[in-house]
Amino acid sequence: MAIRLGDVAPNFKADTTDGPIDFYDWKGNSWAVLFSHPKDFTPVCTTELGAVAKLKPEFDKRNVKVIGLSVDPVDSHHKWVGDIADVTGHALNFPLVADPDRAVATAYDMIHPNASETVTVRSVFVIGPDNKIKLTLTYPASTGRNFQELIRVIDSLQLTSGYSVATPADWKPGEDVIIALNVSDEDAKTRFPKGFVAKKPYLRVTPQPDRG
Ligand code: BEZ
Repeated sequence: MAIRLGDVAPNFKADTTDGPIDFYDWKGNSWAVLFSHPKDFTPVCTTELGAVAKLKPEFDKRNVKVIGLSVDPVDSHHKWVGDIADVTGHALNFPLVADPDRAVATAYDMIHPNASETVTVRSVFVIGPDNKIKLTLTYPASTGRNFQELIRVIDSLQLTSGYSVATPADWKPGEDVIIALNVSDEDAKTRFPKGFVAKKPYLRVTPQPDRG
């Protein structure tokens, strides 16, 4: 069954490059990114895992734990990780789930049979502190993901979980945000003391509320 926004993220127990985990215990009250890659010892996946390792401090700053997954066994993961450091200059610094029986891939609907019957697509799930799904992305095997974009989305998710705002197209942290439609102009005056500009009655922009 497809995993949709707002669904509870399925818990799982699995072997990883950091040893066996219970996903919920490992995650605790943090945010998490669970992402699948199709296969070990493949070129795009190698670059992706190096890119995520490089960005780990950015995920840490945002209280986001990162975990990768492929259907390959853990001994294959252990043999492959040296290549990630060799090629990208960034050693693996987060766990990689081994999912040879595809239990996790099936629970998260990461195998799309019309793309491949045997390996996962490039799925991304951002999971909130409440263990609910906040974002899903699906890329084909042939396209590596932009993990800077994932950080940008997490900034938006974290901001909009704390304030009644939305972020516009191509928003970057520090830029103006949009006041939620269910906030009246009257309420907006008190909730957003920096003021707002109504470009349309339904499009009111205000400075990012958690910035000085
Ligand atoms: C890759 O990571 O390059 C890849 C993985 C699976 C199929 C095709 C390409």
